[in-house]
Amino acid sequence: MTIAVLGATGMVGSRVIKEASTRGHQVLALSRKPAGESPGNPNVTPVAVDATDPHALREALAGSVSHGAADAVVLTVRTVPVDEEFLVGTTRRVLDIAAQIGARVLVVGGAGALRSPDAPGLLVADNPAYVPAGIRAVAAAGIAQLRTCQSHGDADCVYLSPPALLEPGTRTGRYRRGTDTLLVGADGRSWISAEDLAVAVVDELETPGPDRLITVAHHGER
Ligand SMILES: NC(=O)c1ccc[n+]([C@@H]2O[C@H](COP(=O)([O-])OP(=O)(O)OC[C@H]3O[C@@H](n4cnc5c(N)ncnc54)[C@H](OP(=O)(O)O)[C@@H]3O)[C@@H](O)[C@H]2O)c1
Repeated sequence: MTIAVLGATGMVGSRVIKEASTRGHQVLALSRKPAGESPGNPNVTPVAVDATDPHALREALAGSVSHGAADAVVLTVRTVPVDEEFLVGTTRRVLDIAAQIGARVLVVGGAGALRSPDAPGLLVADNPAYVPAGIRAVAAAGIAQLRTCQSHGDADCVYLSPPALLEPGTRTGRYRRGTDTLLVGADGRSWISAEDLAVAVVDELETPGPDRLITVAHHGER
């Protein structure tokens, strides 16, 4: 596959690029400052693109003289502070282009869009046990991004919610997979390494499941 990763320089994006290119996929590494991304890796093509520029985004995803069209797009962008308008607008632009070129979209979103494990009627975003008031806007933006995916009539989109904690770590190659409810381990922790999340991203692209909202977590064994 040719997999475009928008957010290539990020914590998640860089690991998805490593995982996908190691498995032999061609990767289009998209971000505003792509220089230095996997230099010399023949499977990785860095492309400078600002996600707010629809023409540049279209050219990057649909192909140009330097590279072919994407078969799949991994959207894994983030801004600090959170900018819901940017997130929703970027998601809509990517979905529109992907629908036109027939590419599948995997959005790496937020845990807030999931149901609370002990209170299924309560979204994680609305549960102070997981989301303190200070990061509620981040969680709300993630939900808006999920709604954008769900309401897009034409695009083939799967939204991957991480567990509560997602951080750089070790690649074990294994993980637990769920759908719309936050996964918590026997130790009470809800977490995964960015490396294992990247494994799950590429697995989902290689072997698409039936669910439009999925989540993953550490497999729970040492
Ligand atoms: N527990 C959780 O729910 C949890 C935890 C962590 C992350 N996440 C989610 O995981 C996803 C990835 O997060 P991350 O930690 O990997 O983010 P990150 O490390 O901050 O990286 C963000 C990426 O977005 C790119 N970007 C930002 N604005 C852009 C623009 N205008 N045009 C093109 N690219 C742009 C950046 O590249 P440039 O600046 O070079 O353009 C960078 O590659 C996000 O959706 C985040 O919310 C969820």
